[in-house]
Amino acid sequence: MKLYNKVAIVTGSAQGIGRSIAEIFAFEGANIVVSDININLAQQTANEIKTQYHVEVIAVASNVSKLEDCKNLVKTSLDKFNKIDILVNNAGITKDNLVLKMSEFDWDSVIAVNLKGVFNCTKAVSRIMLKRREGKIVNIASVVAQMGNPGQVNYSASKGGIIAMTKTCAREFAERNVLVNAIAPGFIKTAMTEKLTTAQRHAMISAVPLAKFGDASDIAKAALFLVSDDNTYITGHILAVNGGMYM
Ligand SMILES: NC(=O)c1ccc[n+]([C@@H]2O[C@H](COP(=O)([O-])OP(=O)(O)OC[C@H]3O[C@@H](n4cnc5c(N)ncnc54)[C@H](O)[C@@H]3O)[C@@H](O)[C@H]2O)c1
Repeated sequence: MKLYNKVAIVTGSAQGIGRSIAEIFAFEGANIVVSDININLAQQTANEIKTQYHVEVIAVASNVSKLEDCKNLVKTSLDKFNKIDILVNNAGITKDNLVLKMSEFDWDSVIAVNLKGVFNCTKAVSRIMLKRREGKIVNIASVVAQMGNPGQVNYSASKGGIIAMTKTCAREFAERNVLVNAIAPGFIKTAMTEKLTTAQRHAMISAVPLAKFGDASDIAKAALFLVSDDNTYITGHILAVNGGMYM
Protein backbone atom coordinates (compact mmCIF):
# COMPACT_ATOMS: atom_id res chain seq x y z
CA MET A 1 0.00 0.00 0.00
CA LYS A 2 1.54 3.27 -1.13
CA LEU A 3 -0.24 5.55 1.40
CA TYR A 4 -0.73 3.26 4.39
CA ASN A 5 -1.73 5.30 7.47
CA LYS A 6 -1.30 8.66 5.74
CA VAL A 7 -3.93 11.37 6.20
CA ALA A 8 -5.17 13.23 3.13
CA ILE A 9 -7.48 16.22 2.73
CA VAL A 10 -9.05 16.46 -0.72
CA THR A 11 -11.10 19.59 -1.40
CA GLY A 12 -14.13 19.37 -3.67
CA SER A 13 -14.11 15.59 -3.31
CA ALA A 14 -17.83 14.91 -3.09
CA GLN A 15 -17.77 14.03 -6.80
CA GLY A 16 -15.72 14.03 -10.00
CA ILE A 17 -11.92 14.19 -10.04
CA GLY A 18 -11.73 14.91 -6.30
CA ARG A 19 -13.75 11.83 -5.46
CA SER A 20 -11.60 9.68 -7.75
CA ILE A 21 -8.47 11.01 -5.99
CA ALA A 22 -9.99 10.29 -2.57
CA GLU A 23 -10.86 6.75 -3.70
CA ILE A 24 -7.42 5.84 -5.03
CA PHE A 25 -5.78 7.27 -1.90
CA ALA A 26 -8.15 5.18 0.26
CA PHE A 27 -7.41 2.10 -1.86
CA GLU A 28 -3.73 2.70 -1.05
CA GLY A 29 -4.47 2.84 2.68
CA ALA A 30 -4.85 6.57 3.44
CA ASN A 31 -7.42 7.98 5.85
CA ILE A 32 -9.42 10.63 4.04
CA VAL A 33 -11.04 13.98 4.73
CA VAL A 34 -13.73 14.46 2.09
CA SER A 35 -14.21 18.22 2.01
CA ASP A 36 -16.81 19.98 -0.09
CA ILE A 37 -19.25 22.87 -0.13
CA ASN A 38 -21.96 20.24 -0.82
CA ILE A 39 -21.96 18.54 2.58
CA ASN A 40 -24.80 16.10 1.84
CA LEU A 41 -23.01 14.64 -1.16
CA ALA A 42 -19.67 14.77 0.70
CA GLN A 43 -21.17 12.75 3.56
CA GLN A 44 -22.57 10.19 1.15
CA THR A 45 -19.23 9.91 -0.66
CA ALA A 46 -17.36 9.58 2.65
CA ASN A 47 -19.69 6.76 3.74
CA GLU A 48 -19.24 4.92 0.45
CA ILE A 49 -15.44 5.22 0.50
CA LYS A 50 -15.28 4.06 4.12
CA THR A 51 -17.43 1.01 3.37
CA GLN A 52 -15.51 0.07 0.24
CA TYR A 53 -11.90 0.62 1.35
CA HIS A 54 -12.04 0.08 5.14
CA VAL A 55 -10.16 3.25 6.07
CA GLU A 56 -11.24 6.14 8.30
CA VAL A 57 -13.11 8.80 6.32
CA ILE A 58 -14.77 11.99 7.54
CA ALA A 59 -16.78 14.58 5.63
CA VAL A 60 -16.21 18.26 6.42
CA ALA A 61 -18.28 21.11 5.00
CA SER A 62 -15.99 23.79 3.65
CA ASN A 63 -16.24 26.63 1.19
CA VAL A 64 -12.62 27.03 0.09
CA SER A 65 -13.13 30.68 -0.79
CA LYS A 66 -13.47 31.43 2.94
CA LEU A 67 -10.27 31.33 4.99
CA GLU A 68 -12.18 30.58 8.21
CA ASP A 69 -13.72 27.48 6.60
CA CYS A 70 -10.26 26.28 5.55
CA LYS A 71 -8.85 26.85 9.06
CA ASN A 72 -11.80 24.90 10.45
CA LEU A 73 -11.21 22.12 7.89
CA VAL A 74 -7.61 21.75 9.07
CA LYS A 75 -8.60 21.89 12.76
CA THR A 76 -11.33 19.26 12.32
CA SER A 77 -8.92 17.01 10.42
CA LEU A 78 -6.27 17.35 13.13
CA ASP A 79 -8.79 16.72 15.92
CA LYS A 80 -9.73 13.45 14.20
CA PHE A 81 -6.38 12.20 12.86
CA ASN A 82 -3.65 14.14 14.75
CA LYS A 83 -1.71 14.84 11.55
CA ILE A 84 -2.10 15.86 7.91
CA ASP A 85 0.28 14.35 5.35
CA ILE A 86 -1.39 15.36 2.11
CA LEU A 87 -3.49 18.23 0.78
CA VAL A 88 -5.05 18.13 -2.68
CA ASN A 89 -6.45 21.50 -3.74
CA ASN A 90 -9.05 20.24 -6.20
CA ALA A 91 -12.23 22.31 -5.64
CA GLY A 92 -13.03 24.39 -8.70
CA ILE A 93 -15.87 25.96 -10.66
CA THR A 94 -16.49 27.44 -14.10
CA LYS A 95 -18.58 30.45 -15.09
CA ASP A 96 -17.74 30.76 -18.77
CA ASN A 97 -18.30 33.75 -21.01
CA LEU A 98 -16.50 35.89 -23.54
CA VAL A 99 -14.50 38.78 -22.08
CA LEU A 100 -16.94 41.31 -23.52
CA LYS A 101 -19.92 39.64 -21.85
CA MET A 102 -18.39 38.42 -18.59
CA SER A 103 -19.84 40.01 -15.47
CA GLU A 104 -17.70 41.24 -12.60
CA PHE A 105 -19.54 38.73 -10.38
CA ASP A 106 -18.55 35.77 -12.58
CA TRP A 107 -14.93 36.94 -12.69
CA ASP A 108 -14.80 37.41 -8.91
CA SER A 109 -16.50 34.15 -7.98
CA VAL A 110 -14.25 31.94 -10.14
CA ILE A 111 -11.12 33.66 -8.85
CA ALA A 112 -12.40 33.38 -5.25
CA VAL A 113 -12.98 29.62 -5.42
CA ASN A 114 -10.27 28.44 -7.83
CA LEU A 115 -7.39 30.75 -6.92
CA LYS A 116 -8.00 32.18 -3.46
CA GLY A 117 -9.32 28.76 -2.39
CA VAL A 118 -5.92 27.20 -3.10
CA PHE A 119 -4.20 29.96 -1.14
CA ASN A 120 -6.61 29.60 1.80
CA CYS A 121 -6.21 25.83 2.17
CA THR A 122 -2.46 25.96 1.58
CA LYS A 123 -2.08 28.70 4.20
CA ALA A 124 -4.21 26.79 6.69
CA VAL A 125 -2.27 23.54 6.31
CA SER A 126 1.22 24.97 5.82
CA ARG A 127 1.99 25.61 9.52
CA ILE A 128 1.25 21.96 10.33
CA MET A 129 3.36 20.56 7.49
CA LEU A 130 6.26 23.00 7.94
CA LYS A 131 6.42 22.21 11.66
CA ARG A 132 6.51 18.45 10.96
CA ARG A 133 9.04 18.98 8.17
CA GLU A 134 7.00 16.70 5.95
CA GLY A 135 4.09 17.05 3.55
CA LYS A 136 2.81 16.83 0.01
CA ILE A 137 0.52 19.35 -1.68
CA VAL A 138 -0.99 18.85 -5.13
CA ASN A 139 -2.93 21.61 -6.86
CA ILE A 140 -5.32 20.90 -9.72
CA ALA A 141 -4.68 23.44 -12.50
CA SER A 142 -5.77 23.01 -16.14
CA VAL A 143 -4.45 22.77 -19.67
CA VAL A 144 -6.30 26.02 -20.42
CA ALA A 145 -3.83 27.86 -18.16
CA GLN A 146 -1.10 26.76 -20.55
CA MET A 147 -2.81 27.30 -23.90
CA GLY A 148 -5.74 29.67 -23.25
CA ASN A 149 -9.37 28.99 -24.15
CA PRO A 150 -11.93 31.41 -25.57
CA GLY A 151 -14.79 31.91 -23.11
CA GLN A 152 -12.74 31.03 -20.06
CA VAL A 153 -10.84 34.20 -19.19
CA ASN A 154 -11.69 33.93 -15.48
CA TYR A 155 -11.08 30.18 -15.29
CA SER A 156 -7.82 30.18 -17.28
CA ALA A 157 -6.51 33.13 -15.24
CA SER A 158 -7.34 31.31 -12.00
CA LYS A 159 -5.55 28.19 -13.18
CA GLY A 160 -2.55 30.19 -14.42
CA GLY A 161 -2.40 31.72 -10.96
CA ILE A 162 -2.39 28.23 -9.46
CA ILE A 163 0.63 27.30 -11.58
CA ALA A 164 2.52 30.38 -10.37
CA MET A 165 1.45 29.75 -6.77
CA THR A 166 2.60 26.12 -7.02
CA LYS A 167 6.11 27.22 -7.98
CA THR A 168 6.31 29.89 -5.28
CA CYS A 169 5.03 27.55 -2.55
CA ALA A 170 7.43 24.83 -3.76
CA ARG A 171 10.33 27.25 -3.28
CA GLU A 172 9.07 28.58 0.08
CA PHE A 173 8.42 25.14 1.57
CA ALA A 174 11.33 23.16 0.10
CA GLU A 175 13.71 23.62 3.03
CA ARG A 176 11.08 21.96 5.27
CA ASN A 177 10.63 18.97 2.94
CA VAL A 178 7.11 19.98 1.90
CA LEU A 179 6.72 19.20 -1.81
CA VAL A 180 4.24 21.22 -3.88
CA ASN A 181 3.24 20.20 -7.39
CA ALA A 182 0.34 20.75 -9.78
CA ILE A 183 -1.51 18.64 -12.30
CA ALA A 184 -2.80 20.29 -15.46
CA PRO A 185 -5.64 18.09 -16.73
CA GLY A 186 -6.94 18.24 -20.27
CA PHE A 187 -10.60 17.43 -20.90
CA ILE A 188 -11.83 14.91 -18.35
CA LYS A 189 -15.25 13.22 -18.21
CA THR A 190 -17.00 14.78 -15.17
CA ALA A 191 -20.04 16.92 -14.37
CA MET A 192 -17.94 19.95 -15.36
CA THR A 193 -17.57 18.75 -18.97
CA GLU A 194 -21.08 17.22 -19.20
CA LYS A 195 -22.35 20.76 -19.85
CA LEU A 196 -20.64 20.76 -23.28
CA THR A 197 -22.66 20.37 -26.48
CA THR A 198 -21.96 17.47 -28.86
CA ALA A 199 -20.37 19.89 -31.32
CA GLN A 200 -18.07 21.27 -28.61
CA ARG A 201 -17.12 17.72 -27.61
CA HIS A 202 -16.18 16.76 -31.17
CA ALA A 203 -14.14 19.93 -31.59
CA MET A 204 -12.27 19.20 -28.38
CA ILE A 205 -11.58 15.56 -29.16
CA SER A 206 -10.19 16.51 -32.55
CA ALA A 207 -7.57 18.61 -30.69
CA VAL A 208 -6.43 15.65 -28.57
CA PRO A 209 -3.80 13.33 -30.10
CA LEU A 210 -5.09 10.40 -27.99
CA ALA A 211 -8.54 11.22 -29.50
CA LYS A 212 -10.65 10.85 -26.35
CA PHE A 213 -11.56 12.55 -23.07
CA GLY A 214 -9.61 11.44 -20.03
CA ASP A 215 -11.14 9.70 -17.00
CA ALA A 216 -11.05 11.12 -13.50
CA SER A 217 -8.91 8.12 -12.60
CA ASP A 218 -6.20 9.35 -15.01
CA ILE A 219 -5.81 12.43 -12.80
CA ALA A 220 -6.09 10.38 -9.62
CA LYS A 221 -3.23 8.08 -10.66
CA ALA A 222 -1.00 11.08 -11.36
CA ALA A 223 -1.90 12.60 -7.97
CA LEU A 224 -1.11 9.30 -6.25
CA PHE A 225 2.37 9.28 -7.76
CA LEU A 226 3.07 12.87 -6.71
CA VAL A 227 1.99 12.36 -3.07
CA SER A 228 3.45 8.87 -2.56
CA ASP A 229 6.93 7.95 -1.35
CA ASP A 230 7.77 7.28 -5.01
CA ASN A 231 8.15 11.06 -5.25
CA THR A 232 10.92 12.44 -3.07
CA TYR A 233 12.62 14.84 -5.47
CA ILE A 234 9.92 16.42 -7.64
CA THR A 235 8.64 19.81 -6.51
CA GLY A 236 7.31 22.85 -8.35
CA HIS A 237 6.38 20.62 -11.30
CA ILE A 238 3.30 21.00 -13.50
CA LEU A 239 2.32 17.53 -14.65
CA ALA A 240 0.30 17.58 -17.87
CA VAL A 241 -2.35 14.85 -18.05
CA ASN A 242 -4.05 15.86 -21.27
CA GLY A 243 -3.81 13.13 -23.91
CA GLY A 244 -1.11 15.14 -25.70
CA MET A 245 -3.39 18.13 -26.26
CA TYR A 246 -0.68 20.56 -25.17
CA MET A 247 3.01 19.64 -25.13
N1 LIG B 1 -13.26 18.08 -15.81
C1 LIG B 1 -12.29 18.62 -16.52
O1 LIG B 1 -12.23 18.47 -17.75
C2 LIG B 1 -11.21 19.43 -15.85
C3 LIG B 1 -10.13 19.85 -16.63
C4 LIG B 1 -9.12 20.59 -16.04
C5 LIG B 1 -9.18 20.90 -14.70
N2 LIG B 1 -10.25 20.48 -13.95
C6 LIG B 1 -10.26 20.84 -12.54
O2 LIG B 1 -10.42 19.69 -11.74
C7 LIG B 1 -11.07 20.04 -10.53
C8 LIG B 1 -12.26 19.14 -10.30
O3 LIG B 1 -13.15 19.30 -11.38
P1 LIG B 1 -14.34 18.27 -11.72
O4 LIG B 1 -14.38 18.15 -13.19
O5 LIG B 1 -14.23 17.07 -10.87
O6 LIG B 1 -15.59 19.19 -11.29
P2 LIG B 1 -16.95 18.83 -10.53
O7 LIG B 1 -17.83 19.99 -10.78
O8 LIG B 1 -17.42 17.46 -10.91
O9 LIG B 1 -16.52 18.79 -8.99
C9 LIG B 1 -16.09 19.94 -8.29
C10 LIG B 1 -16.40 19.76 -6.83
O10 LIG B 1 -15.97 20.96 -6.17
C11 LIG B 1 -16.98 21.34 -5.24
N3 LIG B 1 -16.92 22.79 -5.00
C12 LIG B 1 -17.37 23.78 -5.81
N4 LIG B 1 -17.18 24.97 -5.22
C13 LIG B 1 -16.60 24.73 -4.01
C14 LIG B 1 -16.16 25.55 -2.95
N5 LIG B 1 -16.30 26.90 -3.00
N6 LIG B 1 -15.60 24.97 -1.86
C15 LIG B 1 -15.48 23.63 -1.80
N7 LIG B 1 -15.89 22.80 -2.76
C16 LIG B 1 -16.43 23.34 -3.87
C17 LIG B 1 -18.28 20.92 -5.90
O11 LIG B 1 -19.35 20.82 -4.95
C18 LIG B 1 -17.89 19.59 -6.52
O12 LIG B 1 -18.09 18.52 -5.62
C19 LIG B 1 -11.44 21.52 -10.65
O13 LIG B 1 -10.45 22.32 -10.03
C20 LIG B 1 -11.41 21.74 -12.15
O14 LIG B 1 -11.17 23.09 -12.47
C21 LIG B 1 -11.27 19.75 -14.50
